[in-house]
Amino acid sequence: MAQEDVFKKVVSHCKEYGFVFPSSDIYDGLGAVYDYGQNGVELKNNIKQYWWQSMVLMHENIVGIDSAIFMHPTIWKASGHVDAFNDPLIDNLDSKKRYRADVLIEDQLAKYDEKIEKEVAKARKRFGESFDEEKYRETSPRVQEELQKREALHERFSKAMNDSNLEELRQIIIDEEIVCPISGTRNWTEVRQFNLMFKTEMGSTAEGAFTVYLRPETAQGIFVNYLNVQKTGRMKIPFGIAQIGKAFRNEIVARQFIFRMREFEQMEMQFFIKPGTELDWFDTWRKTRMAWHQNLGFGAENYRFHDHDKLAHYANAATDIEFRMPFGFKEVEGIHSRTNFDLSQHEAYSGKSIKYFDPELKESYVPYVIETSIGVDRMFLSVMCHSYCEEQLENGETRVVLKLPAALAPVKLAVMPLVKKDGLPEEARKIIDDLKFHFNCQYDEKDSIGKRYRRQDAVGTPYCATVDYDTLNDGCVTLRYRDTMQQERVKISDLRGIIEDNVTITSLLKKLK
Ligand code: GAP
Repeated sequence: MAQEDVFKKVVSHCKEYGFVFPSSDIYDGLGAVYDYGQNGVELKNNIKQYWWQSMVLMHENIVGIDSAIFMHPTIWKASGHVDAFNDPLIDNLDSKKRYRADVLIEDQLAKYDEKIEKEVAKARKRFGESFDEEKYRETSPRVQEELQKREALHERFSKAMNDSNLEELRQIIIDEEIVCPISGTRNWTEVRQFNLMFKTEMGSTAEGAFTVYLRPETAQGIFVNYLNVQKTGRMKIPFGIAQIGKAFRNEIVARQFIFRMREFEQMEMQFFIKPGTELDWFDTWRKTRMAWHQNLGFGAENYRFHDHDKLAHYANAATDIEFRMPFGFKEVEGIHSRTNFDLSQHEAYSGKSIKYFDPELKESYVPYVIETSIGVDRMFLSVMCHSYCEEQLENGETRVVLKLPAALAPVKLAVMPLVKKDGLPEEARKIIDDLKFHFNCQYDEKDSIGKRYRRQDAVGTPYCATVDYDTLNDGCVTLRYRDTMQQERVKISDLRGIIEDNVTITSLLKKLK
């Protein structure tokens, strides 16, 4: 199946099976805002639990907080968001459509990549088994020509972004002959900066009201609570503070479903360390976070690091963990070495000392920070895209199955009476009443057993247990496994032992090195 089709199918599957709905659906939706349905919320909660427990439960020196969405407006001045949390936007005068200038140029870079990959694929076909890809890439004049154009554009683009040179961004768009995808013309406006923070007012009277922002990241809630947590928790450096919560960004171009949203959720952890140790800790967290992702079993080849060559002025190392989405490798998580920038800024703007007295060094310093920041919704999307399968069955039918890691699946066990009479429903309910304390079970009696299996496959339920007439005599059920579709007769009293170890978050955590 073409990757574009996979993505479309995932989007409609999410809606059809209660994972993700457009927000305000009966009012035709609200741009780039989504609601999680009955299955989506379970999967999302499981992702959050996997992250939270891997941070807070697995590390003695990491604690969690839950800070408010509204924060003192000066915080966003100190963090740089008021002045610099901008996207460069450009309008096409013919289509009246608005674009992010940087995204138009990034798409152009991707076009060069595509051309190169096409050349390589053609050569691979032509030369067959004797094809030496590395050598071809190095020696093919066409590949080299495209590569040089790409590199030149990349360099020019990075410089323009770093210098916030809006005129140069526009000139790049003109020079590269980038056209509006809707009108096909090059009738562009100037490039302007657009701040991504949502503003609202706090207070009831016009004179007393002041502007507050919906937080664009959860991290600042951690920075401004650093002292509270360090003191009340008697935390010694190195230590971390973790938080999961909503963030809001007025994205100009919101696309690709839940990949880029205006209201989304982040899982962030700030790790406070001694200055000078940051590059070692950066390396540790880089590896730790990649291991967390790969532990889900989606295949190491579907992840890669994207190290930033151009760094923000306060960062001295940064990388993204990218996952192979149906629309290419995309950032799911960022890991940044942020020096002492944020704490120092808050110290300066608040006038409060945010120094740590190091009992070993017998000196005070503003701690350095390594940040790990992952989007819950992007993680959700990567899990859905990887798990969605269409399988051809021996009888010619196709089954749609979500091969979710069992620990993330919304429902772990569906219990189904063969018929809705003769005491079978009561027996099925008894099983659920017993097991529901240990994992999420669902009772399902409607339609044929085959249809019920398909329904559970489509939401990723790893186990189905069917109660039949024999169950009433032998105390056994037919247990059916989602991925293999194999069935076996097992004792009701053994169900918990068979299932529980494979479906809990603990089972995932135990596999983490
Ligand atoms: N505190 C650092 C920070 O916020 P970021 O790279 O802007 O860094 C971190 O965001 C993560 O948040 C991203 O890797 C992505 O997973 C998620 N994210 C950012 N913007 C998003 C959006 N508009 N919609 C969904 N997820 C988003």
